[in-house]
Amino acid sequence: MMSNPYTPGGRPRVFVGRDGERRWLRDRLARVVAYGEMMGPLVVATGPRGVGKTSLMRDLQAQAQETGFVVAWVAGVKQQPFLADVVDRVTRALDRADRLERPARARVQEVGVEVGVGMAKVSATIGRGDNSEVGSSAALVGPVEDFFHTASHLVRDAGGAGLLVIIDELHAPLLPRSDRESTADPRASLDAAVLLNAVQNMEAEREDYPLGVIGAGLPETKAYLTRAATFGERTHEMVLHVLDENTARQVLTEPARSLGVTWSPEALAAATQASGGYPQSLQTIGAATWDAAQPDEGDTITLADLKAGRSVSDAGLESLFRARWEVATAFERAFLEAMARHTDNEIDRAAVAAELGVDTDALGMHRRSLISKGIIESPRRGSLRFTIPGFAAYVRSLDDNPGGPAER
Ligand SMILES: Nc1ncnc2c1ncn2[C@@H]1O[C@H](COP(=O)(O)OP(=O)(O)O)[C@@H](O)[C@H]1O
Ligand SMILES: [Mg+2]
Repeated sequence: MMSNPYTPGGRPRVFVGRDGERRWLRDRLARVVAYGEMMGPLVVATGPRGVGKTSLMRDLQAQAQETGFVVAWVAGVKQQPFLADVVDRVTRALDRADRLERPARARVQEVGVEVGVGMAKVSATIGRGDNSEVGSSAALVGPVEDFFHTASHLVRDAGGAGLLVIIDELHAPLLPRSDRESTADPRASLDAAVLLNAVQNMEAEREDYPLGVIGAGLPETKAYLTRAATFGERTHEMVLHVLDENTARQVLTEPARSLGVTWSPEALAAATQASGGYPQSLQTIGAATWDAAQPDEGDTITLADLKAGRSVSDAGLESLFRARWEVATAFERAFLEAMARHTDNEIDRAAVAAELGVDTDALGMHRRSLISKGIIESPRRGSLRFTIPGFAAYVRSLDDNPGGPAER
C-alpha cells in the first residue's frame, strides 16, 4: 500500500499555484541577493485560517535558503510579546548557519543579548503600569536596528545573500485582550511599534541592510499593526484568496501523480466543487478519498472512491467548522445564524442587524470579535462574509438540527 500523499493541516507535499505571489516574493529576494539591500517595507500575507499562509511562507523559506539566505522563523503567540523571540530565533539561525565563523556567531550573540536586556527593562516598566509607550519604543528602535544590521551583515560578509525573518501568526500577539475591548497586550503592541519603526528606518537606508522581514496572519493583521503604530499603514499586504478551479484541481492531482495515480474527471470535478477552492478542504477531501481508494501505481481514483471517503472527509471538514463555531459567544452564534440564513456569500451589515432586530451600531463589538476570531471578514465597508467556503451551510445544518450537526 502506498502512503497517503495529502497533508490536511500540514505543509503540502506538492505546493501548487500562488504564482503571482511567488514571483513577487522571488523578485524581492532577488533585490537582496543582487544589491545587498533591504527587501522593502514590511510585507504581510493575510487570509483566513487554512487558506495557505503558512504553506506560502514555508515555500518562501525554502526558496530563500536555496539562494543563500539565513532564515529565522518565528510564530506569534496569542497576546504575547514577540520581539524577544525574533531576536532569539535570528541568533539561533545564525548559530546553525554553517557558513559563519565562530567569532561572527559570538558577535551576534552579544548584540542579541544587549537588545534582550533593553527589552526586558522596557517590559518591566510596562509591567509596573508605566505606559509611556512612545518613549519606550523610541529607546528600543535603535538597538533593534543595530541588531538587524549586525546579523544581516554577518551573513553577507560570509558570502551569503542576507537574512530573512518570517513571522507567522503575526495577528496573534496583537489580538484584543477581550471581546469587549479593542486594545491589545501593551507589551505586544510595543513590540509591533518597535518592529514597524525599525523596518521603516532601515528601509529608508536600505543599502545598509541585506534583510527581509515578512509576516503572515489573519485578515485583520494590517489593521492591528496600524493600531500599534501609524507606520503599520505602509505595510504591503498580500491577500491570499481561495484557489481558482484549475489550481484547486492540482492540489488533488499533483500529489497523486507523483505516485502514478490519476483522478477521474468526474471525481476531480466533484471534489473541487465540494471544496470551494479552500486548500484545507482540498487536502482533507484528498486524504479521505485516498484512504478509501487505497490505490496502487497506475490506478484511477473514481467518484465511487470519493463517495466512500465522504463520511471521513465530512467529519474532517465538520471539525474544522466546529472549532470556529465553538469559540463564538451566544450572541455571535445568533449573528452567524442570521448571516447564514441569508447568504453563502456577502451580506450587508444592516441586513444582519435587521434580522436580529438590533441597531447596526449594536453589532459593532460582536462583528469585531467575529472578525478577530477569523470567522467572518469585511470585504468592503458595510458588508460581511464568511471566511471559509462551506461554513454557511454548516451553520444552517445546526439550525435544522438543534441537537447538533446533521447526521448523514
Ligand atoms: N499552495 C498550496 N498547495 C497545496 N496545498 C496547500 C497550499 N496551500 C495550502 N495548502 C494546504 O492547505 C492547508 C492549510 O494550509 P496552511 O498553510 O496551514 O494555511 P494557513 O496558514 O493559512 O492556516 C494545509 O493542509 C496545506 O497542506
Ligand atoms: Mg498558518
